[in-house]
Amino acid sequence: MVFEKLNNMQASILLIMFILASSPTLLLSSQNPPLAKLKCEDRCGDIRIPFPFGTTEECYIDQSFWVTCNDTGFNPPKLFWWDTSVEITDISLDGQIKLQWFIAKNCYYNGKSNISNNPFSWLPKYFTVNNTANKFTIVGCDAYGFVSGRRIERNFTTGCTAMCSSEADLTEGECDGVGCCQTTIPKDVWTVELEVRSYSNYTNVSDFNTCSYAFVVEDASFKFSKANLTNLSRVTKLPLVVDWAIGNGTCEEAKSDATTYACVSANSTCHKPPNGYGYRCRCEEGFEGNPYVNHGCRDIDECLHKAGNNCTKNEYCRNSEGSYSCICPEKYDGDGRGEDGCKKKQNMKIAIVLIGVASGIILLLLAIILIYLELKRRAQNKTKRKFFLQNGGHMLQEKLSRREASPEMVTIFSYSELEKATNNFHNSMIIGQGGFGTVYKGVLADRRTVAIKRSIRVDPTQIEQFINEVFILSQINHRNVVRLLGCCLETDVPLLVYEFITNGTLSSHLHNEAKARVLDWNTRLKIAAETAGVLSYLHSSAATPIIHRDVKTDNILLDNTFTAKVADFGASKLVPIDLAQLSTMVQGTFGYLDPEYMQTNQLTEKSDVYSFGVVLLELVTGRRALSFDRPVEEKSLANYFLSVLKQDLLFGIVDDKIVGSGNMEQISAVAKLAKECLNVRGEDRPSMKEVAMELEGLILRGKHSWARINVENEEEKESLLPNDDGMSHFGNGDSSSSVGYDSISRDHILLPMNGGR
Ligand SMILES: *[C@@H]1O[C@H](CO)[C@@H](O)[C@H](O)[C@H]1NC(C)=O
Ligand SMILES: *[C@@H]1O[C@H](CO)[C@@H](O)[C@H](O)[C@H]1NC(C)=O
Repeated sequence: MVFEKLNNMQASILLIMFILASSPTLLLSSQNPPLAKLKCEDRCGDIRIPFPFGTTEECYIDQSFWVTCNDTGFNPPKLFWWDTSVEITDISLDGQIKLQWFIAKNCYYNGKSNISNNPFSWLPKYFTVNNTANKFTIVGCDAYGFVSGRRIERNFTTGCTAMCSSEADLTEGECDGVGCCQTTIPKDVWTVELEVRSYSNYTNVSDFNTCSYAFVVEDASFKFSKANLTNLSRVTKLPLVVDWAIGNGTCEEAKSDATTYACVSANSTCHKPPNGYGYRCRCEEGFEGNPYVNHGCRDIDECLHKAGNNCTKNEYCRNSEGSYSCICPEKYDGDGRGEDGCKKKQNMKIAIVLIGVASGIILLLLAIILIYLELKRRAQNKTKRKFFLQNGGHMLQEKLSRREASPEMVTIFSYSELEKATNNFHNSMIIGQGGFGTVYKGVLADRRTVAIKRSIRVDPTQIEQFINEVFILSQINHRNVVRLLGCCLETDVPLLVYEFITNGTLSSHLHNEAKARVLDWNTRLKIAAETAGVLSYLHSSAATPIIHRDVKTDNILLDNTFTAKVADFGASKLVPIDLAQLSTMVQGTFGYLDPEYMQTNQLTEKSDVYSFGVVLLELVTGRRALSFDRPVEEKSLANYFLSVLKQDLLFGIVDDKIVGSGNMEQISAVAKLAKECLNVRGEDRPSMKEVAMELEGLILRGKHSWARINVENEEEKESLLPNDDGMSHFGNGDSSSSVGYDSISRDHILLPMNGGR
């Protein structure tokens, strides 16, 4: 409020100062521009007398422009042309004057006609009747008439006829020959003679019309009415528009003589009128006044009235000499032209402020989001680090760093690496699931296909052992062991990364009707020998004896040449034995479990031997280690086999897919070997080394007899074998290890061939 008052006060002070400062110019511009010459009469009553017209010789330019103001007997005074009775009612600087001109009449009373023509026919020198503003008119119902006179360099005559038969024929306002007729007059007329006559002295119309009238009249000021048939008799003069101009030469001719050139005002121009004589003067655009006198043309202040300019309501009009401009006031923006030339500045300011605030908020939000993401990333890294340490990553790193680097060594993978490889551990990548955890297929950045096992949570007290196992496993480089490539410790659940074995588990082959057919006896024997070899190697050859502890057909994988790859050992030891998890474990491996170990909890290499015995039984019989869909006595394969063997009925349970010529001896031998492995007392079971040698010996012997007996069956052999490459490994096997076991094998081949189909 205080500011507003101050502003108002300031504004009014400024306004007063402005008025005081500019008052001389205001006074000057408010003065009317000069119309007439100095000391000349410029007015006669209401009528202006602009130069070149004047009342005295010094005041007019030429005698044609002499006018007389008569104030005797007239109030207001009247202006006359010269000293005649021709009254002038208006003088326009555009080149027209308005005169009162005569009417010609023709009347007939009592058998006598009374005719009056105009007493005066000619106009001042170089003045002409305006041919567009005036019309020759006759009013009467039995009349015809003429207008004649002189034009520039010729004469003229024109006329019309006005007739009617009754008053009812007449139409108000229409002058088309019924009671009234009109015609235009030609250009450049400077004498006017009027004549009006009656055809038959009003014989047939005398009861309402006895007079006719002829006149040249300003079209705008005459409108025909029925009453005019009679009331025109009292009228003697009617307005006539006359054009005036200076001299009879052109502008160029006039300009050549400066002493007589009439356009004397500054900002005036000369132009030729559309008709008539001479030239006229005119103030230039933006000026007004009398171009015929000195300083007669004055600047028009277009800003004085709204109609004088086309500035919009926001614009401020500024007058200039001969023109004006529309300007935006200070609180507006824009160039000030056109419809929305000026726009409020404040809007701009508000818009700028709004944009500023909006972008500020956006930046703030962005910053908050970035900070949030960064904090989240840090938190994730922290948990990753925590898990890494918790999972013994530090220990593993230390152990690794003590050894010389080699490409065979275990890699510590980052979690994100494995996430990428498994498509974020997508369900479609799962290739195995069980008590041990979940196995995903994955493709590493270097295009290697791997199997990634997500283990069950590690018991913190066993971390050292876990790391040890991982470390030891990574050292095993046996062609029949699924190689551990590395691990990831950044999650609460450690992830193990193995080489990917293409052909799935032995179990899936044995217990699938179609696949099992491909798995012929020689292949099965080879797989058994390879598995036994690995276990033997683990038990004795490796630096630290490793007990697999979970030997079963599910943990024997096959590659595309049906080479056995033993998987999932060592790590299985890490599974903590609490009750909840034991029950899940039993689901997968109960049928293979060493009964002695179950009783004593004493884990020895002989537990693996027992489990391997069950694997041999599965290979021979094609049955599952534990089948719940069979009768109670057949549920456990090991127990059932032992009872069958007691009754000498082995071939009743041999898989009919492998029963063929010449392999019964081998099958019996393997069955015998399995029986020994399944001894209840671990001490009574053979060692893995003995088992492996026995199996290799069988293969070697079988190969010899094969070569001896089946030379002619070469083609049949090839069709039975899944892969030639697979066979070639038999020949390249470690034959030396089989020496000395041939005799043992022979002793075992005692069982009768019953062809158990
Ligand atoms: C006047 O009226 C009479 C009768 O209607 C007609 O015969 C005569 O021609 C008319 N005269 C004129 C001049 O129109
Ligand atoms: C014609 O008649 C009308 C109506 O009476 C009148 O107002 C008008 O002045 C008349 N015209 C002339 C030129 O006298």
